[in-house]
Amino acid sequence: MTDANQDPLSLVVIGASGDLARRKIFPALFSLYCQRALPDDVRLFGFARTDLDDAAFRRRITEHLTCRYAPGASCAEEMEAFLARCHYVTGEYGSTDSILDLYQRMRQLEPRGKVNRLYYLAIPPSIFVTTAESLGNAGLVSCGEESQGWSRVVVEKPFGRDRPSSDELALALGQVFQEPDIFRIDHYLGKEVIQNLLVLRFANSVFEPQWNRQHLASVQVTWAENLTLAGRAGYFDRYGIIRDVMQNHLLQMVALLAMEPPDELEASAIRREKVRLLRSIAPVSRADLVTGQFVAAEWDGRQVPGYTEDPAVPDDSRTETYAAAVLRIDNARWQGVPFFMSAGKGLDSRCTTLRLRFHPLAHRLFDRSGHRPAPNELVIRVQPDEGMHLSLTTKLPGLELKLAERKLDLSYGDAFRDHIIPDAYEGLLLEVMRGDRSLFLSGEELAASWDVFTPVLHALESESAAPEGYPFGGPPPAAALRLLQWAEDARGCG
Ligand SMILES: NC(=O)c1ccc[n+]([C@@H]2O[C@H](COP(=O)([O-])OP(=O)(O)OC[C@H]3O[C@@H](n4cnc5c(N)ncnc54)[C@H](OP(=O)(O)O)[C@@H]3O)[C@@H](O)[C@H]2O)c1
Repeated sequence: MTDANQDPLSLVVIGASGDLARRKIFPALFSLYCQRALPDDVRLFGFARTDLDDAAFRRRITEHLTCRYAPGASCAEEMEAFLARCHYVTGEYGSTDSILDLYQRMRQLEPRGKVNRLYYLAIPPSIFVTTAESLGNAGLVSCGEESQGWSRVVVEKPFGRDRPSSDELALALGQVFQEPDIFRIDHYLGKEVIQNLLVLRFANSVFEPQWNRQHLASVQVTWAENLTLAGRAGYFDRYGIIRDVMQNHLLQMVALLAMEPPDELEASAIRREKVRLLRSIAPVSRADLVTGQFVAAEWDGRQVPGYTEDPAVPDDSRTETYAAAVLRIDNARWQGVPFFMSAGKGLDSRCTTLRLRFHPLAHRLFDRSGHRPAPNELVIRVQPDEGMHLSLTTKLPGLELKLAERKLDLSYGDAFRDHIIPDAYEGLLLEVMRGDRSLFLSGEELAASWDVFTPVLHALESESAAPEGYPFGGPPPAAALRLLQWAEDARGCG
């Protein structure tokens, strides 16, 4: 594996007591450590209000470390060496004094001279700005002088609630960090299957000539979860599924799926094409959007409470847990091809898929066989069971002409049995250290993404009607099915 920059590095996870830090960030760092992908001279700091000493902090993060890259007896040794590099400082996010305590601890452990610093804001968005300001006020952010080393910041979505609040956040972060040092994570971009989209499209001569309105009838982007909000309802209620999933993860997938080929594989070229594509999507109209909210139902042998019965959700909440939308791309390649997008919690299955449906055949050659061939589909499975399949019509073996649909299946589990599929955060953290921004959102991309949804989000807020109820475990609201069937039958995870 290519190393990240070998200069000494201090990596600071702010909000280190939280779910993301424990479940994703530190396990990813451990995986990188085992693969020798972190600089040799690296220290990892956790910072949060929870009162912990180094030993207690290390115990907490150990819970989620796995031995995938260090199997057998070497794992315990690797873990011990990794944990010895992890330190914890207790403090308040908005307090310059607390951040100075952090700084002091860092300076005690850092070598003299040039040190790079990476700050991961694993905290709720409401405290992004005060925290960034405290880092700036305490002098922890270098002003880009080569002799000082770089200071980069990683921020997690949600980046605002709409275009104006996102611009405000961008402006405030920009007071402390320069744009090239801000890494906005959308962890879907770190997923193996999503990274494969460019390769699938541009390294296979069979697809690119078909990838347009002449050959494709529709694109469906489906995100479904069969879970309740368990512990995240307070956060979710302030955002809803459009802001939590559609405006970022799903729109990013659409951008990669639909953009024009970049001139080269450089971050700036890829981002330029993504921005162009996002700007050519018409803002979603109210007529092209349906929302729903799950209600109590018996599911999988148990009674599941409705969304508003969660103690963290107000009884009269109108937050949508499901949404379906039709996106229209106004350019020569996609004019007239509907991009159906749906995302929902409390459905009957869990999946993320991209489904490209080809036009039906113009002739009726096989009608007398009693089987009208179904349109071909290319389905990219992001999760679970990563992979892709192409549905084909084929003759069933036998003396009669009988047709049936079958799949050409490239399942990652089978095709790449000898490969470890990295977690999205492993690749993303490595790219931050390398300074490659291809997998991160630029400010322009973020603004263009908000422009697609901001008008309809504002329209929803001004309505008094509640979203249509649907029973936990699905099916989605009837109006959504009508919208998604506007051009053809919509399929869920299958
Ligand atoms: N968890 C995920 O899988 C996931 C996925 C995608 C994006 N994200 C984003 O990543 C960030 C961190 O996620 P998370 O799930 O780790 O969040 P979290 O557990 O809710 O919060 C992280 C830490 O922030 C502190 N904190 C929480 N609420 C606070 C408040 N109101 N004021 C001040 N401090 C507060 C807590 O630490 P102390 O009390 O110890 O200070 C907490 O341990 C969020 O922006 C989230 O939207 C998370």
